[in-house]
Amino acid sequence: MASSDQTKKSFKLRSQRWFDDPEDPGMTALYVERFLNFGMTRGELQSGKPIIGIAQTGSDIAPCNRHHLALAERVKAGIRDAGGIPLEFPIHPIQETGKRPTAALDRNLAYLSLVEILHGYPIDGVVLTAGCDKTTPAVLMGAATVNIPAIVLSGGPMLDGHWKGRLTGSGTIVWEARRMLAEGKINYDGFMELVASSSTSVGHCNTMGTALSMNSLAEALGMSLPGCAAIPGPYRERGQIAHATGKRIVEMVHENLRPSDIMTREAFENSIVAASALGASTNCPPHIIAIARHMGVELKIEDWDRIGHDIPLLVDCQPAGRFLGEAFHRAGGVPAVMKELLNAGKLHGGVMTVTGRSLASNVETLEEPDREVIRPYSLPLKERAGFAILSGNIFDSAVMKISVIDKAFRNRFLSNPPDVFTGKVVVFEGPEDYHDRIEDPSLGIDEHTVLVIRNCGPVGYPGSAEVVNMQPPAALLKAGIDSLPTMGDGRQSGTSASPSILNVSPEAAVGGGLALMKSGDPIRIDLNTRKVDLLIPEDELAARRAAWQPPKLVNKTPWEEIQRSMVGQLGTGGCLEPATLYLDVLNTRGES
Ligand code: FES
Ligand code: MG
Repeated sequence: MASSDQTKKSFKLRSQRWFDDPEDPGMTALYVERFLNFGMTRGELQSGKPIIGIAQTGSDIAPCNRHHLALAERVKAGIRDAGGIPLEFPIHPIQETGKRPTAALDRNLAYLSLVEILHGYPIDGVVLTAGCDKTTPAVLMGAATVNIPAIVLSGGPMLDGHWKGRLTGSGTIVWEARRMLAEGKINYDGFMELVASSSTSVGHCNTMGTALSMNSLAEALGMSLPGCAAIPGPYRERGQIAHATGKRIVEMVHENLRPSDIMTREAFENSIVAASALGASTNCPPHIIAIARHMGVELKIEDWDRIGHDIPLLVDCQPAGRFLGEAFHRAGGVPAVMKELLNAGKLHGGVMTVTGRSLASNVETLEEPDREVIRPYSLPLKERAGFAILSGNIFDSAVMKISVIDKAFRNRFLSNPPDVFTGKVVVFEGPEDYHDRIEDPSLGIDEHTVLVIRNCGPVGYPGSAEVVNMQPPAALLKAGIDSLPTMGDGRQSGTSASPSILNVSPEAAVGGGLALMKSGDPIRIDLNTRKVDLLIPEDELAARRAAWQPPKLVNKTPWEEIQRSMVGQLGTGGCLEPATLYLDVLNTRGES
């Protein structure tokens, strides 16, 4: 453990350089006086108590995280109780469902804003408020770069949604409702009502979409208190863990327990194993890789297949299973899953966590979980439920979520030899083109078609759009074919159960092989060998490559241009590449 009385006494807080530096009274007075103007006292600021930042991601335009505005009061109480001084500050908001063209543009922007604040202000430790999809990786990436003591407080999922006696989960119900609308089973009002039924209370998506997945993985990494991820937003335990989180961060500052002590290579491997057992979102690989890169830990997209593929699905949550956040929490949440994986010998139990104790010791005394929702390792919902990482003659890497491929899909689309599909591609230039043309009968879409969408990656869209899970045309839906194999250089919502080939890297806009495809090209997908090959002669592909012209990209905002000029591919986390060179900045680059 990093803490000891000796560490506590010898450790000079960085905030004292601002608030109590007798060698520079002029600047000290300047720093102190303005914090007095809302009622703080000089005594507080010069008390030598840790100054704890609360990185606020909630606001009226970020409804998934808005609850953090209230939770921050409990965090502050916890910080005060433990002898710290809280300072709450906003970072750039990210709302998954509200931001155009896509919230994916904003993860790296929020990251940058947090780095600037943590580096440039008198903050000794930070509570990272997390919730909606990209808020969790954004704050962890920022904390990794600056590497000051940090702890994640999740906002928690919304309460379970219900409609006509059945559970309706965030996002997942949207895909189903769209099909019902297309098939004429419901009208517009019925569609709106059905979708709204899943939005029940404060909190983030209640399915195992990207939000609950990433908050669960933050906990699996050791960066939040045990049990934090799954407590529903409105539950009393949510406010209580906010208080405990505030208390704990003050102790972490005294212990100098930093992200680099916790987010080690072993911890990232644990998060990959946990992702499989949770049935986590396909957005997790790029986010976790991005956090690792900012932490200076090498993690490759192939690690997800190598470490995670053979791990079974243990958690029965939508979209891979049946239940929602409330049941997951009541069944035992992330600690119960970690204990199951630990007992099966699949985790590094000795890794440090924000508690100041190891993962193994955190879960040691846990009781048996509710086995209907969290299965025993020996009796899982699905065997080998991790991601498959694919490659081939048209791309270096792509992600496929195996846990959502059901028997019906295998029977319809995967044939002899087992798990091989051959068909023809129909290519769309982006979501607008898909919507314009999907019902065009001249495309000849049938059950042997792979729907391909391109120009949707980090550079092309820009930001990478969640559009790859394309619905077949209405005629096929009516004939009972409710999904087709799809592929694209964009992403897909974590709430979708589509077995798509996603995050194709490199993307078409930077000259990736997807750019060379033409509708009608034959393709072969072999899940056993993880190969996807366009069955086009090499010389023909080379000729197409020679004739390829980069698309003309139109930037609508300054940030779009800046991000496009620096962003990497999804296979390596979609990071701002120059930013990945800034590691542990307070130690390696100093303070301004
Ligand atoms: Fe914000 Fe799902 S849209 S958590
Ligand atoms: Mg999403």
